[in-house]
Amino acid sequence: MTSLTLSHLAWTPLGQGHCHHQFQLRDVTLQVAAGEFVGLIGPNGSGKTSLLRCAYRFNRLESGEVTLDHRNIWRQSSRWCAQRIAVVLQEFPDAFGLTVEEVVAMGRTPHKGLFDGNNHEDRRLVLQALAAVGLQGFGDHGFATLSGGEKQRVILARALAQQPQLLILDEPTNHLDPRYQLHLLQLIKGLGIGTLASLHDLNLAAAFCDRLYVIDHGHIVASGTPRDVLTAALLRDVFGIVALVDAHPLAGHPRITWITQP
Ligand SMILES: Nc1ncnc2c1ncn2[C@@H]1O[C@H](COP(=O)(O)OP(=O)(O)O)[C@@H](O)[C@H]1O
Ligand SMILES: [Mg+2]
Repeated sequence: MTSLTLSHLAWTPLGQGHCHHQFQLRDVTLQVAAGEFVGLIGPNGSGKTSLLRCAYRFNRLESGEVTLDHRNIWRQSSRWCAQRIAVVLQEFPDAFGLTVEEVVAMGRTPHKGLFDGNNHEDRRLVLQALAAVGLQGFGDHGFATLSGGEKQRVILARALAQQPQLLILDEPTNHLDPRYQLHLLQLIKGLGIGTLASLHDLNLAAAFCDRLYVIDHGHIVASGTPRDVLTAALLRDVFGIVALVDAHPLAGHPRITWITQP
């Protein structure tokens, strides 16, 4: 079973040099064990997307190491990574003119040779993935004609068709209504695949994540179970918000109630 490790990672955006007042990821250490659902939370601009890009071999590290199953991902090919890591990003791919089925079938690419067409097994996996996200029957719709929420589910279906050992998701619930937010997170959790997801909704993070990492100004400032991490003090210090934190009456995980001052 696959595990992801980021150790003492540093990364600075290109063109920023090493000015320390600029944004950089520094000394980021993080782990996702096999089958674990790990959430990454932090304010806007804190470095969530940058960190995830390091984890899926897009941002080239300045120092530190990212390993998947104890192998340094930069010593492996991008194909090796694509066979193991599926990514669901905030922006939708430029898939103008492609059908839903064609977009989902792209998930099979890393497992195929250059000139292989889609075989029966590929098509079965594509249809299975579409059914899993509740989009059976949408295969021949134009991707561009879908709503934001439907597109998001198609991109998740593409990730499922990829049969990854690790899922990386950047704010996957953003475009979804409450029903599909729950549906998507339940679905992902049910896969039992190691998952690293940035999440904005802290109550969803509390409900679904086994562990959380909190990032602020490019640095991990807290980690642990939702109960350990999601305290009123942390919400005040990192997010600058006043909140009441108690236990969810049914599930027991932390429940955050925002306190708005008139
Ligand atoms: N490729 C890049 N070039 C320049 N600046 C970048 C680049 N990527 C990220 N940044 C900067 O890094 C900071 C963190 O951004 P990001 O990782 O997107 O944060 P988050 O996802 O938590 O909102 C921001 O200040 C952003 O402008
Ligand atoms: Mg982001």
